[in-house]
Amino acid sequence: MMPSTHDVLVAPSILAADFTRLGDEIRAVEAAGADVLHVDVMDGHFVPNLSIGLPVVAAARRAAGIVVDTHLMITNADRYVERYAEAGSDWISVHAEACPHLDRVIQQIRAAGAKPGVVLNPHTPETALEYVLDALHYVLIMSVNPGFGGQRFLPSVLPKIARLRARIEQRGLDVRIEVDGGIGPETARQVVAAGADVLVAGSAVFGTADYAGAIAAIRGAARG
Ligand code: DX5
Ligand code: ZN
Repeated sequence: MMPSTHDVLVAPSILAADFTRLGDEIRAVEAAGADVLHVDVMDGHFVPNLSIGLPVVAAARRAAGIVVDTHLMITNADRYVERYAEAGSDWISVHAEACPHLDRVIQQIRAAGAKPGVVLNPHTPETALEYVLDALHYVLIMSVNPGFGGQRFLPSVLPKIARLRARIEQRGLDVRIEVDGGIGPETARQVVAAGADVLVAGSAVFGTADYAGAIAAIRGAARG
């Protein structure tokens, strides 16, 4: 297995935050050492749950000084990516399974001024990205079935991360691998050893009383 040459970034997911105090929660994880703020947009159609949309992304943008990473779990992403970029997303990811014209959506994200990512569900092979990989800033590997926080990590994604990292290095590309779902210190260690370098964590950060301790534990475990 081949680790990434990049520093590992920790990306708390606001899905697990207290929405009555969202600005304070965002400022708290940022002060606690978060590198990226992960925002989960769900449409109740692509995934069996609804979460938040444009106004909350815009509000998160106003509170956050760090990178805003918008994970679109929606169909018809092509109709929305420009507006999510305008709302202040620095990174925008779309699901391969939800985009029949994936190459075009990636180009739309870049043209709108955001960094494009593609998300793969647990069952989707990394080979789905072969012809778009060089256009991406990051690949987001789902390590749970998307739709809900607090689920158990699926270890079946580890070989996929390793194969994707090997392919990125073989092609000499500069693409980050982000992992989302069931990440805590132990799983962080495993996915980073396999080649991941951005770690999304919802309940493992916002579900604790000590955000700095939780982020440091994930980062420390990732360092091995
Ligand atoms: C799930 C979301 C995740 C979620 C992760 O569909 O994409 O970002 O917030 O939550 P945890 O870290 O609790 O598994
Ligand atoms: Zn997510």
